[in-house]
Amino acid sequence: MSRLLVKDAHNSTTPLDSILLQGWVRTRRDAKAFSFIELNDGSCLKGLQVIVDATLPDYAQVAKASTGASVEVRGKLVASQGGGQKWEVVAEKFLVLGEADATYPLQKKGHTLEFLREIAHLRPRSNLFGAVFRVRSRLAYAVHQFFQERNFFYVHTPIVTASDAEGAGDMFRVTTLDLANPPKTEDGQIDNAQDFFGKKTFLTVSGQLEGEIFATALSNIYTFGPTFRAENSHTSRHASEFWMIEPEVAFCDLQGNMDLAEAFVKHLIRDAKEHCAADLEFFSKFVDKELMTRLDFVLERPFQRCSYTEAIEILAQSGKTWEHPVSWGDNLQSEHERYLAEEHFKCPVTVYNYPRAIKAFYMRKNDGESAERQTVAAMDLLVPGIGEIIGGSQREERLDLLKEGMALHHLDEKAYWWYLDLRRYGSVPHAGFGLGFERMLMFVTGVANIRDVIPFARTPGTADF
Ligand code: 4AD
Ligand code: MG
Repeated sequence: MSRLLVKDAHNSTTPLDSILLQGWVRTRRDAKAFSFIELNDGSCLKGLQVIVDATLPDYAQVAKASTGASVEVRGKLVASQGGGQKWEVVAEKFLVLGEADATYPLQKKGHTLEFLREIAHLRPRSNLFGAVFRVRSRLAYAVHQFFQERNFFYVHTPIVTASDAEGAGDMFRVTTLDLANPPKTEDGQIDNAQDFFGKKTFLTVSGQLEGEIFATALSNIYTFGPTFRAENSHTSRHASEFWMIEPEVAFCDLQGNMDLAEAFVKHLIRDAKEHCAADLEFFSKFVDKELMTRLDFVLERPFQRCSYTEAIEILAQSGKTWEHPVSWGDNLQSEHERYLAEEHFKCPVTVYNYPRAIKAFYMRKNDGESAERQTVAAMDLLVPGIGEIIGGSQREERLDLLKEGMALHHLDEKAYWWYLDLRRYGSVPHAGFGLGFERMLMFVTGVANIRDVIPFARTPGTADF
């Protein structure tokens, strides 16, 4: 007898004889002649009711089937007598595999998210986290589907790297040097040549630069992997380890890039609605009442587009007092991004053409602008509730202007020799972006803290489990 998943039991079109179910007890209720057990195996949100008759030879086992225990049930799938469910199971054999005593922390509903973070090894067994991680799995699949169907190749870019892709310096060092007694050069500096890789290495902040290598060979590529930022940001939207999807497209400009980003985000929302309906319904009931309305709204209309310069004007005319006053040349802060998406456009908005000085060295310089108002072909997609979920740009494909950008950001050309080679040999206009997978999950589930959409959160000061 092979195992039947609870999900498949719910979806059965006929009663079934001799089924085998395995899972964990959510609740148990003992009546005189029966016990009712709600069994959940994680395959879907909804548990399955199991009825164990007190006359069953195995009935003594039921006393051990407390909340959290793992059990195995053989029996029949029959039409449910009670309301609220189509099917229930009448047990013929009932076995407790692993008991869970009264110290099991998930006894009752209504734990705070903060408490559940402390028991990240058990929280996937709760309704909320079961739903979050099913959606996460489904959307990871949908990411591949979206790109594979569009002739993009999946490239595995390195996790350990010697180059700083964003040129921002927020990188975790990777070393096997003895920190208490590192080897020194003659002038007393740490001798990185003696480190494991013969040079200074880090955890990657982005696979983009290596992605560009492959885009300028295979035309359309994407990466999807963990990235690391050693920023000391204590917000609900920043993690030190997060997953990023980075498509890179040869022969593509900023417009094409914005179109791709919009189609991608909409594809993920549509996919979640189609394949995770019960989980999304749960979120819209218990996490964010506006969720379904917001997702539908986003699917139905085109995203807004507005240049950075226009955005600055909108912010200046908003009549708001900002915590961080903003004028042309400043980085947009979270409060500005959220105002644009939530209050002004009331819709996802792509802000493009940012000042060159505040964006990464590899972004393409826009032609014909004054030195004071020089912009690059950058784009950030801002969504209500979160702010930036995508950052991207058209890349600088002109060797001399790329070198200029590197000088502006005080980067050493020698370290990027291979990146410059891409502009020396068969250079093409190309563009790409990065979607923060966790931020996308926050948007799709309504879950407000990034720590609750990643299985094991790494944030400043925490790396448990
Ligand atoms: O805007 P970012 O830094 O862009 C890049 O890394 C580019 N190399 C991407 C590219 O063009 N290929 O990051 C991209 C996205 C952000 O929009 C955000 O969604 C997410 O990655 N992100 C983070 N998510 C969680 N925690 C953090 N600390 C994040 N930093 C960026
Ligand atoms: Mg960004």
